[in-house]
Amino acid sequence: MAVVVCVTGAGGFIGSWIVKLLLARGYAVRGTSRHAGTVPLAVSRCVPLPPKILGRAGSAKSAPGMDWADQLLRADGPKNAHLWALDGAAERLTMVQVDLLDRASLRAAFDGCDGVIHTASPMHDTPEEIIEPVITGTLNVVEMAADAGVRRVVLSSTIGTMYMNPHRDPDAPLDESCWSDLDYCKQTKNWYCYAKTIAERGAWEAARALGLDLAVVIPVVTLGELLQPSMNTSTKHILKYLTGEAKAYVNESHAYVHVKDAAEAHVRVLEAPNAGGRRYVCAERTLHRGELCRILAGLFPEYPIPTRCKDEVNPPKKGYKYTNQPLKDLGIKFTPVQEYLYEAVKSLQEKGFIHKASGTKVPASRGSSLPQNSTAPMFMSKL
Ligand SMILES: NC(=O)c1ccc[n+]([C@@H]2O[C@H](COP(=O)([O-])OP(=O)(O)OC[C@H]3O[C@@H](n4cnc5c(N)ncnc54)[C@H](OP(=O)(O)O)[C@@H]3O)[C@@H](O)[C@H]2O)c1
Repeated sequence: MAVVVCVTGAGGFIGSWIVKLLLARGYAVRGTSRHAGTVPLAVSRCVPLPPKILGRAGSAKSAPGMDWADQLLRADGPKNAHLWALDGAAERLTMVQVDLLDRASLRAAFDGCDGVIHTASPMHDTPEEIIEPVITGTLNVVEMAADAGVRRVVLSSTIGTMYMNPHRDPDAPLDESCWSDLDYCKQTKNWYCYAKTIAERGAWEAARALGLDLAVVIPVVTLGELLQPSMNTSTKHILKYLTGEAKAYVNESHAYVHVKDAAEAHVRVLEAPNAGGRRYVCAERTLHRGELCRILAGLFPEYPIPTRCKDEVNPPKKGYKYTNQPLKDLGIKFTPVQEYLYEAVKSLQEKGFIHKASGTKVPASRGSSLPQNSTAPMFMSKL
């Protein structure tokens, strides 16, 4: 009997890779989406659980057989159609319509689930559109997951909950003890960081109060192949350099990570018996935007990638330092940036977001970003 994991925002950039990975590891995936074409979960019966999951003893929940699938209808809307092409989707994927502000829809979606990975989130800085779904939505997820008896919730947070703090020591690596300063987020109108910081803090508080096993993955700018048909926020980060829209790059540094590694991080954090109760920075390396552009231009000389910084006065800004050791300790091997930039651009070409041109150089290291050797069978046997 497959173990059921609910992935909110299943059709998103990172969510789609998480769904792909979970299906590949034999899980039954219940994906959520707000979109028309999905059908509310009307009735849900629980699947029996094996005695151990996530390294802890557990009891069977109820109802023989995994027959909830026949009571759920698939999401057939074009936004999530790509999920149905994934290996194992026909047998083990179900999509349900969920509104993060509708607690009943969340509660129904989580019924019978062993794990929840909450990725659904707007990613912009329009306060009137972001505060509610991020802050209230995340709290609803935690409370409804606890109510449904979910064994572990993994939350996708962001590095924006850590580094937005004018008082932090720039030489000290960001770790799980670091939090962004809410007043600073407000002053600088970083409403996404503001909302995600309050949301993550609220999630920890609620999880503690409810005795829920929570773990948080903290991705940085995430890039790589798009599974979904639509453009996503972090891919726009490089699109403007390929189309010629950006004539110069900004004087900024950010940390980056491969979308496959970000997905892998969520799944490993869900599976590892002792991974609960921690915040995991998910970052491969920090690059100044000029370096990012130089790597892109080296791989794809055919595009008009900027060679000039907008700020010709100040020295290059350094990025935040961080430690990704806790994820390495869970077995994550971070893919080098050349590879995920290459995959991101090839994907943009294949999906028609940019024109194809000749001149591309295949990175020498390419090939090492194949799916990581998985520890899943060990955990799967317990699930
Ligand atoms: N990508 C990055 O670089 C990055 C970096 C740090 C953290 N993160 C975090 O990682 C998670 C996934 O990011 P992503 O890049 O995969 O984003 P994405 O591609 O935009 O997907 C997020 C999904 O969330 C759902 N969503 C969007 N707005 C919503 C709203 N107002 N209410 C409810 N659901 C909404 C959408 O699903 P439906 O339209 O189907 O409902 C969307 O597909 C997010 O929590 C984000 O904050 C991402």
